[in-house]
Amino acid sequence: MKLSVIGCGYLGAVHAAAMAELGHEVVGVDVDPVKIEQLRAGRAPFFEPGLPEVLASAGASGRLRFTTELADAADAVVHFVAVGTPQSRDGNAADLRYVDAAIDGLLPLLKDGDLVVGKSTVPVGTARRLAERIAAGGSGARLAWNPEFLREGFAVKDTIEPDRLVYGVDDERDAAVLDEVYATAIAAGTPRIVTDFATAELVKVAANAFLATKISFINAMAEIAEATGADVTRLADAIGHDARIGRRFLNAGVGFGGGCLPKDIRAFTARAEELGRGESVAFLKEVDAINLRRRRRVVELAQEALGGAVFGRKVAVLGVTFKPHSDDVRDSPALDVAVQLKGLGADVVVTDPEGIDNARARHPQLLYSNATDEALRHADLVVLVTEWPEYTGLDPAHVKEIARGSTVIDGRNALDAAAWKAAGWRYVGMGRN
Ligand code: UGA
Repeated sequence: MKLSVIGCGYLGAVHAAAMAELGHEVVGVDVDPVKIEQLRAGRAPFFEPGLPEVLASAGASGRLRFTTELADAADAVVHFVAVGTPQSRDGNAADLRYVDAAIDGLLPLLKDGDLVVGKSTVPVGTARRLAERIAAGGSGARLAWNPEFLREGFAVKDTIEPDRLVYGVDDERDAAVLDEVYATAIAAGTPRIVTDFATAELVKVAANAFLATKISFINAMAEIAEATGADVTRLADAIGHDARIGRRFLNAGVGFGGGCLPKDIRAFTARAEELGRGESVAFLKEVDAINLRRRRRVVELAQEALGGAVFGRKVAVLGVTFKPHSDDVRDSPALDVAVQLKGLGADVVVTDPEGIDNARARHPQLLYSNATDEALRHADLVVLVTEWPEYTGLDPAHVKEIARGSTVIDGRNALDAAAWKAAGWRYVGMGRN
């Protein structure tokens, strides 16, 4: 099939490459000429495991093109809208300007039988509004909403082998078009839910709200554990054995970040308030508050570890991305902790395998080092905030030799506490007294 993908960020670039890999003819469109140049050269504009390989193989097949010209999407019959919906500058609501611009740009190109497919995360009600605009354009094209559930770090696999497909459609015929797009996944038995626009839009935010709530739940338990001497990781192991609860997404620590969970729960709250149903999701404000408290908790633990004398002390911050296997620092708890410690006067040195360039662009005032040992050398305090294997696999005896202090704060409960203690460290976890 001939497909276009509007927006080549973390979502769109992966979607375009994966769809070409699956045999479709794809044109990826983005307004950023630098990004398009990189993609044309077969280079991923961001770190995503597996993406360079699919860009290379889909590029070699001749089925994948990238362009800054939306007009080049005119031949496609299915147009995916994968632009960003960031938090607006002046509040919690999602900023829909890129979605609206994509639809405005597509309108004059649409032909009878074309299907515009929204993938961006939007407030419920957006699809209906956009469908009406497309209908008013008179082309005969239609809209479907097909939310995306990929995780950064696993984006290629999640796109090629999704765990479910959700189609929000006005007309059953549009589901058949999407079945053709996703023929490989359908043949593999991927569950598929065909529903209305509102449900499809809500599925996406409900899923992220649930995941965020699960993380904040365990972080709330970590707060109680801190007050009682209990160990939240043992608690998570124990409740996680109940299949109804499950152990995944029950890792307490510095909390969630990234370009999705934080802004999605805020946008959901804002939309519910607009609908007069703010009460229904008022708990998400608490979820957000618990999450942000954990960042402050790491900073407090650092202050305590340094005996209150933070000024001029060297703090090695291990990790800056919002999670491992990504270069994304959007709303990253790790970056936030580094900035707060710097604000208190600490000599913060941040290290990360992939996130330094993005972090430096946002916070040039921090010191960065590509070399883990350099960051750790003479450090008065070691703080792990992103659980990259490079850091969880560190030899505590070696770190002890090069660092000055002997306290490690494990902001992700990811280190082998016993091994660090055995090497002479004072180990401070999150909710693990
Ligand atoms: C999230 C969802 O997991 C995806 O399903 C969704 O498609 C995506 O948002 C999106 O809306 O596009 P992602 O942002 O890539 O994916 O990251 P997650 O793996 O969900 O992790 C989010 C944050 O939660 C990270 O900062 C991670 O460190 C933190 N986390 C995760 C915890 O603190 N504890 C856990 O147990 C799990």
